[in-house]
Amino acid sequence: MEATNFKPGLEGIPAAKSEICYVDGEQGILQYRGIPIEALAEHSSFLETTYLLIWGDLPNQKELADFEYQIYHHRRVKSKIRDMMKWFPEAGHPMDALQAAAASLGLFHSRRVLDDPEYIRKAVVRLIAKIPTMVAAFKLMRKGNDPITPRDDLNYAANFLYMLTEQEPDPLAARVFDVCLILHAEHGMNASTFSSRVTASTLTDPYSVIASAVGTLAGPLHGGASEEVVDMLEKIGSCDNVEPYIEHRIANGEKIMGFGHRVYRVKDPRATILQNLADQLFNKFGADPVYDIALEVERVTTEKLGNKGIYPNVEFYSGMVFRQLGIPRDMFSTIFAIARVAGWLAHWKEQLAVNRIYRPKQVYTGGHHDPYLPLDQR
Ligand code: COA
Repeated sequence: MEATNFKPGLEGIPAAKSEICYVDGEQGILQYRGIPIEALAEHSSFLETTYLLIWGDLPNQKELADFEYQIYHHRRVKSKIRDMMKWFPEAGHPMDALQAAAASLGLFHSRRVLDDPEYIRKAVVRLIAKIPTMVAAFKLMRKGNDPITPRDDLNYAANFLYMLTEQEPDPLAARVFDVCLILHAEHGMNASTFSSRVTASTLTDPYSVIASAVGTLAGPLHGGASEEVVDMLEKIGSCDNVEPYIEHRIANGEKIMGFGHRVYRVKDPRATILQNLADQLFNKFGADPVYDIALEVERVTTEKLGNKGIYPNVEFYSGMVFRQLGIPRDMFSTIFAIARVAGWLAHWKEQLAVNRIYRPKQVYTGGHHDPYLPLDQR
């Protein structure tokens, strides 16, 4: 490859053919398997959407009931994994804890039969079922408490909030959380999905695929923005401070957190849905103290940067929603991970069906035939 063809970050280079997700950044369109995200957010559940993403079609009633049953009855995590997690450092980041816990599943399920549909189905069930249990367990264990056992009578979203907050959630909170998971479940060839496909292409086990994707998502350029949005809104402190704050950042070439996107040139359709969910939550439970500031930040930033195609992205309202649901700030990215496991597994399965190991080229820029200097001469 000539150096002139090189694109840092592979920007704009197709890395796979995929039927999973369609994004039109100019018009603000997002579809999973051809279905608009707005319809899924209104009518679907996270587990139904997961089924759609991974198996390609919406399940019928029996298929969905079977899938839900399987998931609900695989939510427990082995005591050896819980024991291992007890020894994780309390100050460790929840994403690092999740990555290690997810990878450990491969130790317990080391059989690897990637051409067996039953093996694939079981791995999907295990990962979708157990990842939320691991996330909630770490939240309690890092404070020295025992994790809460999943409840078979609660649906996926309600059970997670119950395990995390130790209280059965209000039905609206559970529904809003379920929709958040739908919105974060898939988004085409982003960094963590690319990572999952590269790992999958070596024909390793699915637990390694998910662990490598979690590690990629953990970086601040990918999964960490919702945390930083809430920090920013708190720092601004009042609506009167918004305009000078935004002007100062723009003048200094600094980014406004929760704004801008590599693909979208209009408001991210997921941000519009999340804002609506935030409204519903705040109407019922009282507004987040920084919500008015957020609305003012959107108004001012859109006025100043809208002409450059910079609008709120999915992370702008998600932090406020997560906080209202009782999710600690350093766990926001783990929620993203719980949801995105669905997309990563869909790409794992798609990659296996057409697999060729990823092996791109590099543009070598080092020297040639340099002399080897013996150690005592250096
Ligand atoms: N605030 C202010 N200006 C922004 C901006 C933001 N959030 N995002 C992009 N811009 C501006 C850049 O300063 C640059 O302006 P210039 O051409 O005058 O130099 C231009 O828009 C292009 O920015 P660039 O960083 O090259 O865009 P990108 O496509 O590489 O970046 C993001 C996309 C998401 C990384 C970027 O918008 C960002 O860092 N946003 C804040 C973090 C965030 O919310 N991340 C979550 C993404 S879902």
